[in-house]
Amino acid sequence: MLYAGIDLGTSAVKLLLMDEKGKIQKIVSREYPIYFPNPGWSEQKPEDWYAQMIEGLKELFADCDKSQVAGISFGGQMHGLVILDKDDNVIRPALLWNDGRTFEECDYLNNVIGKEKLSEYTANISFTGFTAPKVLWVKNKEPENFAKIAKIMLPKDYIAYKLSGVHCTDVSDASGMLMFDVRNRCWSKEMLEICGVREEQMAKIFESYEAVGTILPEIAAQLGIPETVRIVAGAGDNAAAAVGTGTVGDGMCNISLGTSGTIFISSEKFGVDKFNALHAFAHADGHYHLMGCMLSAASCNKWWMDEIIGTKDYAAEQAAISKLGENHVFFLPYLMGERSPHNNPNARATFIGMTMDTTRADMTQAVLEGVAFALRDSLEVAKALGIKIERTKICGGGAKSPLWKKIIANVLNLKVDVIESEEGPALGGAMLAAVACGEFASVEEAAAKLVRIIDTVEPEPELVAKYEARYAQFKEIYPTCKPLFEIIH
Ligand code: XUL
Repeated sequence: MLYAGIDLGTSAVKLLLMDEKGKIQKIVSREYPIYFPNPGWSEQKPEDWYAQMIEGLKELFADCDKSQVAGISFGGQMHGLVILDKDDNVIRPALLWNDGRTFEECDYLNNVIGKEKLSEYTANISFTGFTAPKVLWVKNKEPENFAKIAKIMLPKDYIAYKLSGVHCTDVSDASGMLMFDVRNRCWSKEMLEICGVREEQMAKIFESYEAVGTILPEIAAQLGIPETVRIVAGAGDNAAAAVGTGTVGDGMCNISLGTSGTIFISSEKFGVDKFNALHAFAHADGHYHLMGCMLSAASCNKWWMDEIIGTKDYAAEQAAISKLGENHVFFLPYLMGERSPHNNPNARATFIGMTMDTTRADMTQAVLEGVAFALRDSLEVAKALGIKIERTKICGGGAKSPLWKKIIANVLNLKVDVIESEEGPALGGAMLAAVACGEFASVEEAAAKLVRIIDTVEPEPELVAKYEARYAQFKEIYPTCKPLFEIIH
């Protein structure tokens, strides 16, 4: 049988076709625009997602035995607010996970409602990218749009709805809305009331590996696939990536170097850190996870390469890097503000430490290292909770770079296990579809049978020591710059 995984990312939708043995048959990718209507705002059109996804599916299935397609599932950019009117039309462009406009609503939630209450209701506090402050923003700033809302959806759930006709979501993605009681895996009545919405405006909740229904007959006909194809709830992209890298069960770690950067720790038990510096979310395997999320990771390198240096040859730029552990240039990677652990939408990126002999390679190296240091900030929070992590998986576009993997291994002092395919969320989506279609008894079984580690990047003690000293310096930069960020944004 064949299973499709759809990763609805921020720059593109990636679609992957996998057989029941886990062999990847085909991958296609299609881009769509992102809009930044004001500094710190970021939006996309759900209609663009759908149009590219359908074209992508046509291409994906073009040369396979279509009768073998059994299930389709998703990994999707999290937290985005999609609002539909009573006729299921999109009311306004979606506000994305890296949109920082909701600082007033966040301030209200964290400081008037209070972090303790939020944590009690949802296991999390408010960050500008989360969905509840966005709902409040629409309520406060666009009351005419708020009045039209019949359904509140997340990005991948909108495309799942278009394919199945079911208003659905899954526990992992719903966790990032700040409207969901993570421990009990249901909507939080208190949070719905705080946001001024009714439960019937919310989607129906599924576990990530459950089918929400079958594909709509007209879409099955359009794609030439059977009407019995199951549409499976899927997961937020980080939980889907964790499935795709076998980060399931207890105490496993995955780092994703995509537009965002995340460090994801799976856990069989529900748990929250005292300051809610890490997100406490439901996992796609039926359990829970903790996660630190930085808003700009591989996107920092992309920005530096494409916009500033003006090259597409990332490998050539990285080949010139020769001072691992000895770079005196630092980069704060906060191009879209920062989430974990600083929670500061006003934070900005900065280079510091250049001298007349600083080279272009030093600056490129600083960008790669800055992302690694910022991930280490979240790892430190997990370590302070007593969580012991010795190794991690890695996925996302940035994971294609051997140098970046080496930097990560040494800055975080973790063994980095490289998976056969770094297509985390799309592969995880296909695996969730396979579980829902009965190919595997559980997500854990699918991961055990399908995920293959092909290499491990070991930290080198000498380099780890050098980076330890650099990290101590890096840690001083944000608190020193913080007062400035309040003035210069
Ligand atoms: C996670 C987060 C990002 C997006 C990226 O909390 O905001 O990783 O899911 O797509």
